[in-house]
Amino acid sequence: MKKVCVIGAGSTNYGKAKESITELAVNAARDAIKSSNIEPKEIEYGLISNVFGVADKQVHLAPVIMTNLGIPHVPGLTIESACGSGSIAFREAYANVAAGFYDVVLAVGVEKVTHTGTTRSTTLFSYCSDFFYEGGCGVSFPGLFASMARAYITRYKASEEDLAMVAVKNHENGMLNPKAHVRKRISVDDVLNSPIVASPLKLLDCCPFSDGASAVIIASEEFAKKHGGEYIEVIGSGRGASPAALQNREDLTTIPSTRAAAMQAYKQANLTPKDIDFAEVHDCFTIAEIVDIEDLGFFEKGRGAAAVREGLTQLNSEISINPSGGLKSKGHPIGATGIGQIVEIYEQLLNKAGERQVKDANIGLSHNFGATGASCAVHIFRSV
Ligand SMILES: CC(C)(COP(=O)(O)OP(=O)(O)OC[C@H]1O[C@@H](n2cnc3c(N)ncnc32)[C@H](O)[C@@H]1OP(=O)(O)O)[C@@H](O)C(=O)NCCC(=O)NCCS
Repeated sequence: MKKVCVIGAGSTNYGKAKESITELAVNAARDAIKSSNIEPKEIEYGLISNVFGVADKQVHLAPVIMTNLGIPHVPGLTIESACGSGSIAFREAYANVAAGFYDVVLAVGVEKVTHTGTTRSTTLFSYCSDFFYEGGCGVSFPGLFASMARAYITRYKASEEDLAMVAVKNHENGMLNPKAHVRKRISVDDVLNSPIVASPLKLLDCCPFSDGASAVIIASEEFAKKHGGEYIEVIGSGRGASPAALQNREDLTTIPSTRAAAMQAYKQANLTPKDIDFAEVHDCFTIAEIVDIEDLGFFEKGRGAAAVREGLTQLNSEISINPSGGLKSKGHPIGATGIGQIVEIYEQLLNKAGERQVKDANIGLSHNFGATGASCAVHIFRSV
């Protein structure tokens, strides 16, 4: 396999967007192309991650985006894997470059749903669950993650305050991110007193519905070296899967796809969780971040909530988790999220993250899953 690098990255603001889905994607792609200092015509392939293009009346996004970038003859493919679409599109781009099919690939993630309103967005998103057993029976994602939260709290004697502390930390980091959707400092009491969405999860335990787009340029190491700009290296890539419906899982306090994807990525990178300086993890609900940091091996099973309580996951502590603000504060435009995490890692490893810079960041990990973890990809990156 060839060595693979990320040579450019760009993102729109996350939040409620006025632009169309195509404009969002093209704006992020143009930013990534500009930061990589290549010409659009050097791109050989495009992977677009998106779930609900239909909500903005545009599917078959790849040719539309490529045409708007002035490269209508470059082939592209749209990838859907629910909230994990971005990292899975990145993985496909990685595999194509590693295998030698292409030297330069554009990966763009985009979503635009907020104009449909909370009720409609909740219904649309429920189509990403195992609809026969979950969405179709009236269980939306807050309800599914609430089941996981209840199981975790009961088994590990954690508290709703512990969950709230994840939100407080991620909002604190998001305050330092000018592109974040919800830039608001909050307290544990704010979280505990916010309206209940699906007990024990309250409004401030949930990520928002967001619009936005993120893009990266992936290239072979030969191209990156010859080209001469700044880049980071992809040193581990893993994929995992779990039964789609929660009822078919043996344990609600762990996500098997995360563990499988992480194990592959660590093995390929020849690293252990202790070697990771910071991670962007999938915190769609506060409970998810606690489960993630255990499944990724940063903390022992059952220790995640205590680690958050002890401040071990804050910016520049033992391991900086979600320096961008995470899905909770930065926002969760589902097709864009996994690519947006990699944009953050690119900026962190190139020392361009401004006020939220992780000190001495050398190795970063991204973790992004679809639905309640039915699909997952983990990537590990290092500065060169
Ligand atoms: C939590 C949730 C129910 C709130 O929806 P809502 O009650 O319709 O909220 P609104 O859009 O009316 O916003 C009300 C206020 O709360 C804020 N807000 C909304 N969602 C928020 C969130 N998740 N975190 C922080 N603030 C939020 C809004 O900015 C708004 O503030 P303002 O009045 O100062 O402008 C909704 O965001 C949600 O379902 N999130 C989960 C999305 C999801 O499932 N994603 C997939 C994950 S797998």
